[in-house]
Amino acid sequence: MSKLKFVRHPHPAPTPADKRAQLLANPGFGRVFSDHMVTIRYSEGKGWHDARIEQRRPIEMDPASAVLHYAQEVFEGLKAYKTADGGATMFRPRENAKRFRQSAERLAMPELPEEDFLEAIDQLVSIDRDWIPDGDHGSLYIRPFMFANEIFLGVKPSSEYLFIVIASSVGSYFKSGADAVSVWVSPDYTRAAPGGTGAAKCGGNYAASLIAQAEAHKHGCDQVVFLDAAERKWVEELGGMNVFFVFNDGTMSTPPLGGTILPGITRSSLLTLAKDKGIKVREERYSYDQWKADAGSGKLREAFACGTAAVVTPIGTVRAPEGEFKIGNGGSGARTEELKTALVDIQRCRAPDRHKWIHRVF
Ligand SMILES: Cc1ncc(COP(=O)(O)O)c(C=O)c1O
Repeated sequence: MSKLKFVRHPHPAPTPADKRAQLLANPGFGRVFSDHMVTIRYSEGKGWHDARIEQRRPIEMDPASAVLHYAQEVFEGLKAYKTADGGATMFRPRENAKRFRQSAERLAMPELPEEDFLEAIDQLVSIDRDWIPDGDHGSLYIRPFMFANEIFLGVKPSSEYLFIVIASSVGSYFKSGADAVSVWVSPDYTRAAPGGTGAAKCGGNYAASLIAQAEAHKHGCDQVVFLDAAERKWVEELGGMNVFFVFNDGTMSTPPLGGTILPGITRSSLLTLAKDKGIKVREERYSYDQWKADAGSGKLREAFACGTAAVVTPIGTVRAPEGEFKIGNGGSGARTEELKTALVDIQRCRAPDRHKWIHRVF
């Protein structure tokens, strides 16, 4: 139980039902927002306080707010789903609460207790329940984040923070829907170095990845794939997704967590589901050269990206400055589809929740 008292100030003029229905008909990703937000403040000496649920609105910031200068900010991303009986669920939200604490620790920020994080997202999903889209591809994407709010121009951990949760009604992440995506192997840019912030979900990681993502688009690819910073050899992850490889002997592999990649909750869930199915998965380094050779020889059958936003998305084409190669037939594969179905069926409450991953909001 959260020890904070959440004070509710419902929106005095929420979006009318017909306007909301229009917005939910084709929401895209990250552009349609619900009516409310949750805020919790932190100040040194006082701790976490002033928890509120109120109408979503612009926040006033002093131009000297620390985050605007030194980027002390962390965030999370998870989805709420509508159930057949009109309820709402979330998938492993405590894992997000835990990763949020770990990200905060790496950025020298105060840790928000997991119970407060969970209560905040539950409160928002409850009050904005009508913003969860229907249908198999729709969900309410929850974005908890916190940033340094002290008014001070000095490089030191802030003494004040603001934690906010907003929500966005979303459809599929990739415009191409379920088709396989193409990825660009960035020759010039890396995402995270040993000892850096790669395992934290902080805004700065994404700011640094944008130029590589723009380069991927310029080369006609959907996403960038990063190699390691030390040797520029090992496949790490995509701009916003982890990656798995499927081999012709039935085994799979995924790059190991070692501080430079984000410990994805989808990644961890797929490792468990694969083990349940008796599939051998190695958490082991895999080089770009080997990837190319194995795709050419047929040893590599499938590759897929995974994350909350993209769920499980097959990788069909890998492009680099020296050329490109296809994986399998360039589309999805049987193992990718099997694991995706197993995951989505649990998330959508169509399959038994053996691992107790489903959190019922109401
Ligand atoms: C860089 C990066 N890797 C991996 C993931 C996948 O993580 P998760 O499965 O927890 O969404 C994300 C998305 O949050 C991400 O931003």
